Amino acid sequence: MHRPTSIVVLTGAGISAESGVDTFRDKDGIWSKVDYRDVATPEGFARNPERVHEFYNQRRSGLASVMPNAAHLALARLERTFRGKFLLVTQNIDDLHERAGSQQPVHMHGELTKALCASCGSRHPWHGAMSRASRCPSCNEIGQLRPDVVWFGEMPYLMDEIDEALANCDLFVSIGTSGNVYPAAGFVEQARYAGAHTIELNLEPSEGHVLFEQAIHGRATEIVPEFVEHILAGR
Ligand code: APR
Repeated sequence: MHRPTSIVVLTGAGISAESGVDTFRDKDGIWSKVDYRDVATPEGFARNPERVHEFYNQRRSGLASVMPNAAHLALARLERTFRGKFLLVTQNIDDLHERAGSQQPVHMHGELTKALCASCGSRHPWHGAMSRASRCPSCNEIGQLRPDVVWFGEMPYLMDEIDEALANCDLFVSIGTSGNVYPAAGFVEQARYAGAHTIELNLEPSEGHVLFEQAIHGRATEIVPEFVEHILAGR
């Protein structure tokens, strides 16, 4: 493979699986236990906000007991060491990339550790439980806060920045995602259209595996560090 000059990495729940964070569509995944329409849609939130707050409160409090794994750390090393352009885009709402040392991962589906006020539109770091009694630190309104995460039917964040990076990259690497959810599942086609080399690193072939020129299958904590060393060695 030629020496890349501009890399875009997309990660999904599979990169956090070995840290003990549940994935969505694996056997026993989150969506096998909870109906996404109840907890990850604006309609579900309008119907029963406390149910939604509880769902995210559990996942937010779970962050305290998980650690970044070798795959998160390897991507942070790649970002620090690679001399070309590098952008990490994640579908994950956990904070493991940051805690591994990644500078500014693009959280296209938002972040568990942030609150968004429906009344004044402000965003705030939020590490504890959130409920309808929570007060917005900016406008002081009560009952207007929601987790700052992107629900089904909502527009992912920072799509202009992501599209721009995909149009100008020469290496696109997808890690730990099943390729079920758009627009992330379409990034590989945007990268290919820009002439980038496209690689999928995943436990098993994803829904979109045929779209990738190359695939490396295995556990992220094994295949990601190996892949990063390969890139950094310029081999
Ligand atoms: N190493 C590498 N890959 C793994 C591992 C592992 N240890 N464990 C699981 N995987 C792979 C699975 O094979 C699967 O292809 O990670 C992928 C996880 O897929 P999903 O559970 O569908 O998660 P993701 O692709 O991130 O979901 C995308 O859907 O529900 C929405 O907003 C949610 O961001 C999420 C989006």
